[in-house]
Amino acid sequence: MNNDLNGKTSLVTGAASGIGKAVALLFGQHGANVMVSDIDQVQGQQVADQLSAAGTKARFFRADVSDPVQCQQLVQETVDAFGSLDMACNNAGIGGELNMTADYSLDGWQQIINVNLNSVFFCLKYELAVMLKQGSGTIVNMASILGQVGTAGSPGYVTAKHGMVGLTQTAAIEYAPKNIRINAVGPGYIDTPLLSQLPPDVKQQLIGLHPIGRLGKAEEVAELVIWLCSDKASFVTGSYYPVDGGYLAR
Ligand SMILES: NC(=O)c1ccc[n+]([C@@H]2O[C@H](COP(=O)([O-])OP(=O)(O)OC[C@H]3O[C@@H](n4cnc5c(N)ncnc54)[C@H](O)[C@@H]3O)[C@@H](O)[C@H]2O)c1
Repeated sequence: MNNDLNGKTSLVTGAASGIGKAVALLFGQHGANVMVSDIDQVQGQQVADQLSAAGTKARFFRADVSDPVQCQQLVQETVDAFGSLDMACNNAGIGGELNMTADYSLDGWQQIINVNLNSVFFCLKYELAVMLKQGSGTIVNMASILGQVGTAGSPGYVTAKHGMVGLTQTAAIEYAPKNIRINAVGPGYIDTPLLSQLPPDVKQQLIGLHPIGRLGKAEEVAELVIWLCSDKASFVTGSYYPVDGGYLAR
């Protein structure tokens, strides 16, 4: 247990599973209070219970991040429960429809942009309002390697993640003078339930795209998020940090 985030309050969306769960658990290990949020009530509550059992002050709040009203309620609940919001990880996301651009459905496009991009704007908007009042805060948006490069068959996801990187840079410039740091993280392919929709041969092909020779682990992404939120990263804002086993270096 490293108590460097003792007394600070964190909020993680999509924290019932995968990367978000690893981030929430690591925030707890660093001494922070944790608001666990997800649309999955059962698994989300389990993560909050796991944190509480380890001595962390933790709560679960169900919020669908594609709904701005629920994002506002989530931020308010966090402040009501813990008295502040110091660190936020806007992580919730889906893989979305897999189709070439000309075949991509209109509904599929709306869905991926709502869940993976509009959600980040909604969360930022309400998180920033609290952090501005406090005079401090750090935010990490969960982008992807696909926030830097394209890939065939996933135009909606790639667009959402690229948009998120631009939004991160813009908000970072706007709020750097207000003592609020905002960064994006770009994981390579990480072995989480998000990849369960992919057939095993595709998963094997994906491994070949990472020079390190394997998929990443959620905990390896979480370490970067916690560092970016900590005072150790006090001069880091508006940046995009890959954590990708060398994917983007090829
Ligand atoms: N796994 C990867 O290879 C990978 C790579 C790069 C980026 N990412 C990004 O990391 C983030 C987390 O992905 P993961 O791999 O942990 O996936 P995951 O499926 O394990 O977890 C995602 C969580 O988000 C929740 N969620 C989905 N829609 C939601 C909504 N509308 N409101 C609130 N919660 C919602 C799900 O219930 C789930 O608990 C996503 O933004 C994803 O795009 C993942």
